[in-house]
Amino acid sequence: MKIARFHRHGDASVIRHDDVEVPRPGPDEVLLKVAATSFNPTEAALRAGLLREITPVSLPYALGWDVAGIVVATGAEVSVPAVGDHVIGWLDGGAAAQYATAPAHLLAPAPTRIPLADAAALPLAGLTAWQAVFDHARVVEGQRVLVNGAGGGIGGFAVRLAKHAGAQVIATAGPRSADRVRRQGADHIIDYTTTAVGLAVRDPVDTIINLVSVGRPQAEELIALVRPGGVIVSATTPIPPASDTRITATHFVTRRDTAQLAALTALVDKGVVDVEVTRSYPLAELADVHRLGEAGDLHGKVTIVP
Ligand SMILES: NC(=O)c1ccc[n+]([C@@H]2O[C@H](COP(=O)([O-])OP(=O)(O)OC[C@H]3O[C@@H](n4cnc5c(N)ncnc54)[C@H](OP(=O)(O)O)[C@@H]3O)[C@@H](O)[C@H]2O)c1
Repeated sequence: MKIARFHRHGDASVIRHDDVEVPRPGPDEVLLKVAATSFNPTEAALRAGLLREITPVSLPYALGWDVAGIVVATGAEVSVPAVGDHVIGWLDGGAAAQYATAPAHLLAPAPTRIPLADAAALPLAGLTAWQAVFDHARVVEGQRVLVNGAGGGIGGFAVRLAKHAGAQVIATAGPRSADRVRRQGADHIIDYTTTAVGLAVRDPVDTIINLVSVGRPQAEELIALVRPGGVIVSATTPIPPASDTRITATHFVTRRDTAQLAALTALVDKGVVDVEVTRSYPLAELADVHRLGEAGDLHGKVTIVP
């Protein structure tokens, strides 16, 4: 089978399409026929070697964290999922391939309302949005929430989930993403390419979910928008503590949570969460996807199909 790997860190040209044997699942694993993986910018950073200090990986490293696929074989100790089940998960690589093994406990049922390949957009971005909105910001009904960077892969899910919690959502998005973010439910959109967010938000917000790498001046501009007692949650740059100690600034790293993934699947099937794939690429073009991502030329969720 074909698998996309890098044998050394470097620019996107290090991605190789190797021919390897179809892997055998271990006792607590399943073998998946991969329907799709999706692009997450952190994988490009890992490939480039930017995360060597934080997350060292052994080489060659097989790309593809998100997976949507069909179970075609199970290890001796696995009862769920079963052969034929459609599942999604966030793996430690290996889904940029025709087949992938996955620990059974990391897999949740795939939504049935959307094509299986589109469901590959859900795991990491959906979990990050879920944890930002519910675990860290603890958004509740009636709050005003600003999602900074709503045009990205996580942003659409964050807008949806904050709306689901009953919040009023203000979102920053550029012209290429504004309509999509509006469809996801944003009440008000600020075009960050023409307007400073600090000038556009007049009344303080309860919560900011930050999904953009920001420098100190932009971080301070954001903090100034939060009401005393409010929260700013960042999935990117740690936001420095506010001079007003009543504002909580939190940075978090997404954790694997199969129950949350299953809850996301249920919300997709109920029509509460939409999965909008902006573009899909064949696996052979994965290096181009990394280049486009690193140039800032991708938006929303992009899937890669073997
Ligand atoms: N903490 C964690 O564990 C964790 C987990 C996953 C991801 N992350 C990080 O979270 C960030 C977002 O991830 P993602 O997958 O959503 O990224 P992404 O899809 O690559 O986000 C790209 C989007 O960012 C928007 N953007 C760029 N500059 C902006 C600005 N100045 N203001 C507002 N929006 C801007 C663009 O929106 P337009 O299309 O509207 O121009 C673009 O579509 C990344 O830095 C990623 O590495 C962290």
